[in-house]
Amino acid sequence: MKVLVIGGGGREHALVWKLRASARVDEVWCAPGNGGVAADGECVAADAGDVAGLLALAEKLGPDLTVVGPELPLVNGVVDAFEKRGWLIVGPTKEAAQLEGSKVFTKEFLVRHGIPSAAMYGAFDTAEAAYRVLDSVKWPVVIKADGLCAGKGVLVATESAEARAFISRAMEKNEFGPGGKRLMFEEGLSGDELSFILLTDGERYAPLVPTRDHKRVFDDNKGPNTGGMGAYSSDELLPDVLRETITKTIIEPTLRGLKTDGIRYQGFLYVGLMLTKNGPKVLEFNCRLGDPETQAILARLDFDLADVLDDVARRRLQPEKLKWKPGASACVVLASGGYPGKFENGKEIRGLDEAAKLADVKVLHAGTKRDGDKIVTHGGRVLGVTATGDSLDSALRKAYEAAGQIHFDGMHYRRDIGRHGRQSSATGD
Ligand SMILES: Nc1ncnc2c1ncn2[C@@H]1O[C@H](COP(=O)(O)OP(=O)(O)OP(=O)(O)O)[C@@H](O)[C@H]1O
Ligand SMILES: [Mg+2]
Repeated sequence: MKVLVIGGGGREHALVWKLRASARVDEVWCAPGNGGVAADGECVAADAGDVAGLLALAEKLGPDLTVVGPELPLVNGVVDAFEKRGWLIVGPTKEAAQLEGSKVFTKEFLVRHGIPSAAMYGAFDTAEAAYRVLDSVKWPVVIKADGLCAGKGVLVATESAEARAFISRAMEKNEFGPGGKRLMFEEGLSGDELSFILLTDGERYAPLVPTRDHKRVFDDNKGPNTGGMGAYSSDELLPDVLRETITKTIIEPTLRGLKTDGIRYQGFLYVGLMLTKNGPKVLEFNCRLGDPETQAILARLDFDLADVLDDVARRRLQPEKLKWKPGASACVVLASGGYPGKFENGKEIRGLDEAAKLADVKVLHAGTKRDGDKIVTHGGRVLGVTATGDSLDSALRKAYEAAGQIHFDGMHYRRDIGRHGRQSSATGD
């Protein structure tokens, strides 16, 4: 098989790494890929959001299977375009990708099918209406831009001034682009967050191993939100009773609801949950794998990824094929100085070879570029140092040991990835 992966971050590097390991695969392209992907596959220039460009690329390369990493091509209809030509591709159609592409669509879907989520105050297309609703909400209120905003479209507001500033940025200053022209207001929930990611062919589904990510830039969940500073996976994150509750109250009603609505959903579905004292509630859906959760998940993979994804595209998924390494995994993100604010690119990265020599470690690239013989930084999140182990402690130890080998100017990373997981298993809750 020849496989094309669309995207160029750490998630896509992890996909390329595992697809390349398949006995059935002899070529993997990544469009556009990055400086590290080139070691595991072939990078080809592309704009991942441009469906016409991706069609032309696939026409030229002739992949047997295409796997889509990010949400933008999905929301823009890349799957519809490929399927129309009879080409095998993994990912939801434009209609199904609305589960990520529109928060209002999603809320209506959840309400229609009785799936627990935060109560909605309303959705508004004008700033006046949005300001007005603030008079009647309970605090904290959560404000969500309806459309895609590259992870910047949500605010948990504790008071009015903060909420008003966000409304103004979205609706008056147009800072979020078209995705921010409509705002939805919902109840603030509290509890632990958990990501539940599954793979489905539209009929059957298989859950992936549970993961938790770390969104804030600094230790102890301090500082601004980022795309994700690390993630870990261990089976203890999802005890059987909780898994059963989530399956019965959220996963199965969601898949049933899609069918009832006549929406065929194929590909990865990421369900973001808040574990509230009244049970798990849906925070959001993403129509793709998470980044950096994918790095932690795929590190534990113990099956032929290309084979299973080919089954998904052919609508014949066999859930029992998905097997996982026991134990745990961890991914520590090494970020550029200043990230998630302003940062400089082009810093030489040293120590990659030393880190790669360590057992059970894989350094996945996100924001990197080749510059002659060197690899230099080219983005905010630069590397995802990923390791597996018999326990979460051992996976973390290996990931941090490898991270310690790597250096670039301004590099910073969190030292407490997985700490929550270790504490909760230590106290037995
Ligand atoms: N109703 C809520 N109550 C409390 N916190 C919330 C609520 N909704 C969202 N959040 C917080 O805001 C974060 C982002 O929200 P959401 O996942 O809907 O946005 P997003 O921009 O689609 O995120 P992502 O970039 O992960 O796709 C959540 O991970 C959660 O921490
Ligand atoms: Mg989202």
